[in-house]
Amino acid sequence: MTEQTPVAIIGAGPAGLTLSHLLHQHGVESVVLESRSRHEVETTVRAGILEQGTLDLMRRTGVGERMEREADIDEGIEISVQGERTRIPLTELTGHTVAVYPQHEYLIDLIARRQADGGALLFETTVDAVGGTEDAPVIDYTDAAGRSCRLRADYVVAADGSRSPHRSTVDPTGAGRHRHEYPYAWFGVLVNAPKTQKELIYATHPEGFALISTRSDSVQRYYLQCEPSDTVDDWSDDRIWEALHTRADSPDLRISEGEIFDKAVLRFRSAVTEPMQRGRLFLAGDAAHTVPPTGAKGMNLAIADVAVLAPALVRALRGRPELLSDYSDIVLPRVWRAQHFSWWMSSMLHQAPDATTFESRRRLAELSSVLSSEAGRRYLAEQYVGRDLPEFEV
Ligand code: PHB
Repeated sequence: MTEQTPVAIIGAGPAGLTLSHLLHQHGVESVVLESRSRHEVETTVRAGILEQGTLDLMRRTGVGERMEREADIDEGIEISVQGERTRIPLTELTGHTVAVYPQHEYLIDLIARRQADGGALLFETTVDAVGGTEDAPVIDYTDAAGRSCRLRADYVVAADGSRSPHRSTVDPTGAGRHRHEYPYAWFGVLVNAPKTQKELIYATHPEGFALISTRSDSVQRYYLQCEPSDTVDDWSDDRIWEALHTRADSPDLRISEGEIFDKAVLRFRSAVTEPMQRGRLFLAGDAAHTVPPTGAKGMNLAIADVAVLAPALVRALRGRPELLSDYSDIVLPRVWRAQHFSWWMSSMLHQAPDATTFESRRRLAELSSVLSSEAGRRYLAEQYVGRDLPEFEV
């Protein structure tokens, strides 16, 4: 059986689900095809900071209710340099706040809302091929019951993450891909423990970086700089606690301990594909660009992409394709600014394993310059909270 939809969306992550939700708000239906199960999508742990623009969009489009009740709204972060803490008062410097609300909670809210709105979300569904002609794309897929199906769409959006196979359709030679690798990674743990303090602590220390983040009053999220080749077995609980206390404790603050119930290594990579479109196929979120986790920009960038793509698709379906033609040109400057910020925060806070003494002294001088100047703290704060999302009439 062949079905038809205005917009076929591959991937039920932040980009795909938000796009589907925004399109629906403008009266445009879509079909979301996701290879994972709903349970997997709703339980995979990723980063957890929502920028002001993301919070505003959630409130404006009616999916912010649980976030409003449960998220931790933060007005500052701390940077600790060898145990000496400096607070960056985000709200005082920018008027904006950020929320600690994990990505999977966001996805739970969006899935519930799409289902309540009667949206077509197909889990455990694999896309076998995106074909057809440039003007009339066709998706062949296998549904959860193993049936081969076909979907015709006016437009196709690949929002299926950093390993998207559809990127090569947009950029067949790979010439539009810009990459950067980092000589370190993060070891992430989830811990049953009370909060150390309300605000996040980004700690740099000669022994490496540590980040003290949170998931709830009783579950904490900690990260430690590690080698990219490290595995979960390299880090015993004792080694984790020793490293956390060495790197992030300060004279009047001790990182709170508890049972570690999850361990994972997170890779550090930057990549951008430009342009993010070809014909009727569009890339959104990690399918087009990946940032390292420092600063937690990835999900916010994905949502910023579709804040442009949704109105652009709506207009194009109504016979006005100009905004859609400009999609890449509009979103890429924000993508590159976020790439820069994520790279800058990462480079300033992590000691590379092969850094010369000159490089490590220079890095600490940069941190000291930024933290000791009001302009420096303001710059960091502005980048951290992010810019407002663009709004387009349809
Ligand atoms: C997280 O809680 O997962 C998190 C928070 C802040 C970051 C990165 C990750 O910069």
